[in-house]
Amino acid sequence: NHKESYAAWLQYKKIDDAALVKEYQKWASNIESLADSIVIQSAQNELNTALSLMLDIQPKISSDIKPVNSIVLASMKELNLLDKLDVDFDQINEDGYMIKTVTSDENSTIYLLGKRDAGVLYAAFHLLRLMQNREKLDHLNIVESPKNQLRMINQWDNMDGSIERGYAGKSIFYKDDVFSEELNRIQDYARLLSSVGINAISINNVNVHQVETNLITSSLLPKVTEVASIFRAYGIKTFLSINYASTIQLGDLDTADPLDPEVKEWWKNKAKEIYRFIPDFGGFLVKADSEHRPGPFTYNRNHADGANMLAEALEPFGGLVIWRCFVYNCLQDWRDRSTDRARAAYDHFKPLDGQFHENVILQIKNGPMDFQVREAVSPLFGAMPQTNQMMEFQVTQEYTGQQRHLCYLVPQWKEILDFDTYANGEGSPVKQVVDGSMFPYRYSGIAAVSNIGNDYNWTGHTLAQANLYGFGRLTWNPDLEAETITNEWIGQTFGQDELVNEQISQMLLKSWEIYEHYTSPLGVGWMVNPHYHYGPNVDGYEYSVWGTYHFADCHGIGVDRTVQTGTGYTAQYFKENTEMYESLDTCPDELLLFFHHVPYTHKLKSGVTVIQHIYNTHFEGVQEAEELKERWTTLKDRINSERYEDILNRLEEQVSHSKEWRDIINTYFYRKSGIADEQNRKIY
Ligand code: GCU
Repeated sequence: NHKESYAAWLQYKKIDDAALVKEYQKWASNIESLADSIVIQSAQNELNTALSLMLDIQPKISSDIKPVNSIVLASMKELNLLDKLDVDFDQINEDGYMIKTVTSDENSTIYLLGKRDAGVLYAAFHLLRLMQNREKLDHLNIVESPKNQLRMINQWDNMDGSIERGYAGKSIFYKDDVFSEELNRIQDYARLLSSVGINAISINNVNVHQVETNLITSSLLPKVTEVASIFRAYGIKTFLSINYASTIQLGDLDTADPLDPEVKEWWKNKAKEIYRFIPDFGGFLVKADSEHRPGPFTYNRNHADGANMLAEALEPFGGLVIWRCFVYNCLQDWRDRSTDRARAAYDHFKPLDGQFHENVILQIKNGPMDFQVREAVSPLFGAMPQTNQMMEFQVTQEYTGQQRHLCYLVPQWKEILDFDTYANGEGSPVKQVVDGSMFPYRYSGIAAVSNIGNDYNWTGHTLAQANLYGFGRLTWNPDLEAETITNEWIGQTFGQDELVNEQISQMLLKSWEIYEHYTSPLGVGWMVNPHYHYGPNVDGYEYSVWGTYHFADCHGIGVDRTVQTGTGYTAQYFKENTEMYESLDTCPDELLLFFHHVPYTHKLKSGVTVIQHIYNTHFEGVQEAEELKERWTTLKDRINSERYEDILNRLEEQVSHSKEWRDIINTYFYRKSGIADEQNRKIY
């Protein structure tokens, strides 16, 4: 029923253009696979399914090269079997691939060549992407290598089936405290992830509760093994989030002190046990000493002590410790003006640079707060040249409309990845920190919190599929243009209709800005309903323990994070950025209230006052949300009705909810400031 919603960007719709079908059939009738492994099997299966659906043929599959028109799959190992093929495997990295069309008088062959089998699979998905977007295949000469080594998805799934910050139904992995039986669904998820180059997944919430603590015990490891083998076939390594206090929680010891010999021994044995089940297990993702989770602080040890203890246990097996830097005081007194949550990660971790083992990676959220619609880039990126770092994004839209509002995040992620840290002078963007090219990192990459659940369209809002797609593509290559990724996704998801392409592309690319317009202004963040994080509540967090304040009074608003008069946060950046943010003259408008407390009458660079900007953007934002809906309705007869109606419903909710945002924000600031809207629009 829900076929198209479910298939996401792997639609493989039958191609109507007879000439093109004929052309594609020339190669697609024969799939010749020189390599043989479960990963190659996946590539072969995907090609087989896709080509039969798109071209209405049954490809012949064989394991040797015959002199016929064909698609050939091979990895570097099989190079000697590739007669006279002139290719240079040195130009690609471990996960890289080449796609080459070689035509002679007698026949034509498309080679899908990977350094390893995973590359062959990525090449197969690439070829299918080209075909779904109706590209010519007769002169292909594609050379691709992922820029990031670790391309990871973090599931925040709990074993009771709930998903922390999940907005698309329940978990596809677990139900009622046991593993789901629906392995097909997990396999289809693996296909989606692998098709955009994801190569790692952690399968449980970073907040590891009672039941999930057992995932590393022999009671649940057989099930983890089963899931790992599904992902393995798609080139994806499985990781687990662990409870730092497992030694205690599982009843074996009465301490979790990382320097205690018994604790060390316990984890070493634990690692051995896990690797007996899963020889290519990825490692642990750890949230420690953060939001009431246990960690080394209890024992007066630091994060390096904690991470290194686990790293030693995993090291003999090649496993990684991914240690999260989301560490801050979540029991702050709002009266305490000296503590600034934004400073926390840097203050905790920067002094430990160089103390972490080689197989530890610090996973740092993109901003110093928590995935707000707009916040500064974390100053920790680039500040630890001797410690592996990776990025954490959030694909699930916790603070960006929870998949009920359209908010396409690729433009945001691009801005963050392109942000110049100045770590090595001008031209030191974040993307070159996390891809490991700026400093000699052994491991690095990008992770993101997933946005999928068991909804039939995976993501609740069907257009939110674009965020998952975009995350994968951008992580593969942060230099890709947002427009390119967007068009690729639309073509595969909705077909080749030009109007559809144009309208959806406009909708997606503007949606982040639109969402920002009617929510919290000028980088100040929060102003959401506590706990749920959906909907406006200006003072929701203002007098609470979470360290997330805007300090609005009758004169002005914003958080003074300057060195001169504020919390000193700006000093955590490299000099050029410190100076830019420190001064009102150079601080960019969109982050003004993140860095400064200013009067409502302060003039922005755009020429309008802060209060007028708040009014203007909130009125505009609602109008723009309405335009999103209008655009969509022009596509009524061009999109299948289920997807059309699904998306229309969400856009309608967005329009009406954006008005709630507009009116609450405008009214709040009108009442605080007593300053009227210059244009005299309705404020309550
Ligand atoms: C946010 C989110 C929590 C989550 C936490 C984390 O605070 O609201 O649900 O656990 O981030 O990233 O650990």
